[in-house]
Amino acid sequence: MSQFKISNRFLQLEKQAASCRLCPKLADETAILSSANGSLDASIFFIAEAPGRFGAGRTGVPFQGDRSGDNFEVLLKHIGLIRSEVFITNAVLCNPLIDGNNRRPSAKEIKNCTSFLKESLDIIRPKVVVTLGTVALNAINQILSTRFQLSQNVAQSISMPDFKLFPLYHPSPRVTNWKRPMAQQKKDFSKIPI
Ligand code: URA
Repeated sequence: MSQFKISNRFLQLEKQAASCRLCPKLADETAILSSANGSLDASIFFIAEAPGRFGAGRTGVPFQGDRSGDNFEVLLKHIGLIRSEVFITNAVLCNPLIDGNNRRPSAKEIKNCTSFLKESLDIIRPKVVVTLGTVALNAINQILSTRFQLSQNVAQSISMPDFKLFPLYHPSPRVTNWKRPMAQQKKDFSKIPI
């Protein structure tokens, strides 16, 4: 299929995401899915949780503008990659908020958004899918009908029919300060089969 057709398919997906009203609490939020997510030719596809209030929810670019994004950029640089070489999206495309603060997306919101994730994967056809955190891993589990767990499968390259799945922790300060420090996350990122 030519790049032109692929891009048309992505533009169509972008429009569908922009007009999606499936989640009552997210209906007025902006879906973050556009050419700013990265390259459609990327062989590495990162999935995070959801746009953050100070990050993608404000800048329109996944992992840009907040501390999670700053950490992500450090990790990406550590393995010699730049944003334009990869594709970055979220399990849930809209910013889930409660009283003006970020909240975890609900199971229903994750399920509602899997069709966008699946279609993005079908369009880009990456060699490696890196999930960042449990929400992203759960979303991919729903698509693949698998039951991978971060605690058991972290930094393992798992061969799936269409790509290698590589589960990692989320780079948010909440995780890097308490659960998976940046030094360890750098080691994890270095194992991504690029
Ligand atoms: N920004 C994103 O785009 N995703 C996250 O999961 C966190 C911050």
